Amino acid sequence: MKLLVTGGSGFIGSNFVRHVLATHPDDRVVNLDKLTYAGNPANLADIERDPRYAFVQGDVCDAKVVREAARGVDAIVNFAAESHVDRSLSEPDAFLRTDVFGVFTLLEAVKELKIPRLLHISTDEVYGSVARGSSREIDPLRPSNPYSASKAGGDLLALAYWQTHRLPVLITRSSNNFGPSQYPEKVIPLFVTNALDDQLLPLYGDGKNVRDWLYVLDNCAAIDLVLRKGGEGEVYNIGGGHEVENVVLTRQILQLTGKPESLIKPVKDRPGHDRRYSLDSKKVRQLGWTPRHRFPDALATTVAWYREHETWWRPLKSGEFRAYYEKQYGHR
Ligand code: NAD
Ligand code: DAU
Repeated sequence: MKLLVTGGSGFIGSNFVRHVLATHPDDRVVNLDKLTYAGNPANLADIERDPRYAFVQGDVCDAKVVREAARGVDAIVNFAAESHVDRSLSEPDAFLRTDVFGVFTLLEAVKELKIPRLLHISTDEVYGSVARGSSREIDPLRPSNPYSASKAGGDLLALAYWQTHRLPVLITRSSNNFGPSQYPEKVIPLFVTNALDDQLLPLYGDGKNVRDWLYVLDNCAAIDLVLRKGGEGEVYNIGGGHEVENVVLTRQILQLTGKPESLIKPVKDRPGHDRRYSLDSKKVRQLGWTPRHRFPDALATTVAWYREHETWWRPLKSGEFRAYYEKQYGHR
């Protein structure tokens, strides 16, 4: 296959590009990425000279750029998004643009160029908080914050193009990913790198919110399977099956970094903070997927990766990040 991967310089996208080139030797990948603060060419430095890989810097909201990058591809996999909930609370504009209008631009390109497949990457957050049980693909969408509302908008638009034009769209909705190359604003890389530097870990509210953790390579394998075997117009949940309270996760991080629990600093809660996410992943398991990485091992591998890759994350935590950190946490 020749794939157009959008947002391939971010966390999950870069892991996915590497996964595709490693597991499908005849595939080619074009990566279209705007290189926002979250996009990092270093994430794919090891493959930038691979003749099967090409990079285009550009915006998924730019129809001309998208059409040019998409010409002749067998499929588009859309990772491009603004992805951090906290940023969506203070600066939602870019979320609406990329996560809704960006999807629209890709859908129009698929229609015009008759591209055989568009796999849109979405999130469990579109279902909103679930007190009991697990969300199924047919459940109503009840997003709680501007990020998840924008993602839900993108999903609904994609499904509307399937209904009206029979456009060959597929959607995956995964739970919280973790692993190498995650921008250090998200809780696991933030807490690991803060702990390594003996800095406080700002735990929101009572610390009892629950997230279902999925190792990024397990997500990449599931996305790849859905891309090749999934049904058009279908949605697939991808859950890690490892639900844990934030405070428990925080203690595990401190144990793995060898730091004391006194680094935990309870802070004012995130507004609209969803209490729990949980996914029913039967449908993707029926396609043949199962997570291969045990959570404790994958968390230990992840902590070791950040320990060994200071040159990757230190530059990201300086400059713009310091201003962001002060704005986000200074008053809490
Ligand atoms: P990320 O923030 O690490 O990366 C996003 C990438 O998209 C960056 O490389 C950025 O430069 C690029 N981008 C942003 N706006 C763009 C635009 N307008 N045009 C082109 N490129 C643009 O995000 P991530 O964590 O890798 O998430 C990837 C996708 O997976 C997102 O759609 C997100 O909603 C979804 N998702 C993430 C998680 C998670 O836990 N990280 C879980 C479920 C779903
Ligand atoms: O569930 C999937 C979603 O997971 C993805 O769609 C998003 O792109 C991704 O960012 C992630 O969203 P969360 O809001 O769940 O992730 P985050 O890492 O920001 O927070 C995880 C939990 O940790 C959440 O309950 C909030 C809490 N938290 C987070 C930060 C950054 C803290 O307690 N302190 C923090 O400083």
